[in-house]
Amino acid sequence: GFTRDTRTVRDYIRTIHDFPHEGIIFRDVTTLFADARGFRMAVDQLLAPYAGLAIDKVVGLEARGFILGGAIAHQLSVGFVPIRKKGKLPGAVVSQTYKLEYGEGVMEIHDDALVPGNRVLIVDDLLATGGTAAAGISLCERLGAEVIGCAFVIDLPDLGGRALLEELGQDVHVLTS
Ligand code: PRP
Ligand code: ADE
Repeated sequence: GFTRDTRTVRDYIRTIHDFPHEGIIFRDVTTLFADARGFRMAVDQLLAPYAGLAIDKVVGLEARGFILGGAIAHQLSVGFVPIRKKGKLPGAVVSQTYKLEYGEGVMEIHDDALVPGNRVLIVDDLLATGGTAAAGISLCERLGAEVIGCAFVIDLPDLGGRALLEELGQDVHVLTS
């Protein structure tokens, strides 16, 4: 007979120890993205809370946020805006420094990618310290946009990212911890 497939989004995520540095437990979403059922579940679950909220743009955080954000933007029938690491965007940008679980850097957005009053959904694969997402929120707000929500496949709660974003007044949506 038939057996129902009961796998959830978390069942498709692979864990790799000591990447990119010793001591890091890396949550690898390539195995989720590569599976048709897993990818569809993740995209559908990420956008569900925002489907009726008049989102104007989906903002994806480099690099894995582009994969999810593009699919979500398509499903919501709205445009997609990338936030990239320093030096990658060709036009005039605004920049924001940020800290990572392992390292620090600069994120940028085109200065005309959002206009005041735009209602945006920020998307990434994973929330760790929240530094990347906080930089993304700041860049959107500096262009006058309103961040309606921040959606992630994975939250690493011990690293405090969700608490940080909630302190910033954000609606945080995660699929698995
Ligand atoms: C990872 C992840 C998030 C960020 C989360 O990206 O995809 O963007 O780290 O960490 P945080 O909450 O501590 O800021 P990474 O910096 O590895 O960049 P990549 O996706 O371009 O490889
Ligand atoms: N980005 C920051 N920390 C990470 C982790 N543990 N796994 C995957 N991506 C990350």
